[in-house]
Amino acid sequence: MPGDMQKFELTLQSGRKMPPVGLGTLAPDEGEEEVIKAVRVAIKAGYRHIDCAAIYRNERAVGSAIKSAIIEDTVRREDLFICSKLWNTCHRPDLVRTSLRKSLEDLGVQYLDLYLMHWPMAYKEGGEFHPWDENGKIIYSDVDYVDTWKALEDCVDEGLVRDIGMSNFNSKQLQRILDVARIKPSNNQLEINVHLSNEKLIEFCKSVGVTVTAFAPLGNLSVKRDHTPIIEEPVVLDIAKKKNKTAAQVALRYLIQKGVGVVPKSKTPSRIVENFQIFDFSLSDDEMKALAQLNRNIRVYDESIALEHKYYPFNEPF
Ligand SMILES: NC(=O)c1ccc[n+]([C@@H]2O[C@H](COP(=O)([O-])OP(=O)(O)OC[C@H]3O[C@@H](n4cnc5c(N)ncnc54)[C@H](OP(=O)(O)O)[C@@H]3O)[C@@H](O)[C@H]2O)c1
Repeated sequence: MPGDMQKFELTLQSGRKMPPVGLGTLAPDEGEEEVIKAVRVAIKAGYRHIDCAAIYRNERAVGSAIKSAIIEDTVRREDLFICSKLWNTCHRPDLVRTSLRKSLEDLGVQYLDLYLMHWPMAYKEGGEFHPWDENGKIIYSDVDYVDTWKALEDCVDEGLVRDIGMSNFNSKQLQRILDVARIKPSNNQLEINVHLSNEKLIEFCKSVGVTVTAFAPLGNLSVKRDHTPIIEEPVVLDIAKKKNKTAAQVALRYLIQKGVGVVPKSKTPSRIVENFQIFDFSLSDDEMKALAQLNRNIRVYDESIALEHKYYPFNEPF
């Protein structure tokens, strides 16, 4: 294991460990070949954690890369940590197992290490991932995520997945699950980066024994926005220069030191390698404080198409 990586592994409810850096695979503009290449480069570079989801529509490509890495003896299945996510149109309990099985089939594996409920909101079942009505509004479903959770627990019993969790759940929603869970959630995957600290929710998750993974840990750099990108923030650049590291490495190391996992995405081989090389330096308390000052509560992934859904998560303070 490189450098001090072991120190940052996250322990899940099953007692198993989650590697702190995973490769993000949300790549809407990339074809199969690019996705396959990215996953292969990542595994060769030492990544053992891959963050997938049905909605990313590329699990077959990810699976193909995993398969070749195993065949070539670069890695064994048991050394990989594969996470996928249940999409909002499959919350109805009878659809949960089918959806998980589809991800397993596409990824070409017998079990997942972690399966997350992608959002607390359910959308109309069957058909499209985004079921629109004639007025251009998403058609909701009123399935309660607590019922979905029970179906996820059954999938653990069946050995289809080792740990289960959620993504984009606020503290109240997480508490509702904790109140009834037979199998406790292992992980809440949240948008967290230098511009979106999510401090209170992280603290809450930790206080109830739920690990946290930061998605969009670089603030999603694929689109030009009207604020300074994280990797161009002077504070980040100053620290990077001092440490002889890149701005992205500083931004990722900051999160690791905050005690959360990270799943940066890149299609660029040199960046994939770079984003994993964050275990050979550390940030001082003062540097951590300076980076914390950059919080702007900027949320990129707000799923605003479901703003009026009764389980929309971002109307609560945390
Ligand atoms: N649970 C959820 O609801 C949810 C939502 C969103 C995302 N996610 C997960 O989180 C992952 C990451 O989020 P994200 O893809 O939105 O954003 P991100 O990882 O913060 O940023 C990705 C962007 O940054 C660029 N980049 C990556 N490393 C770089 C580096 N070292 N230097 C400069 N630029 C770099 C990439 O460019 P290139 O690819 O061109 O190199 C890409 O445009 C996703 O892939 C997905 O797995 C989960």
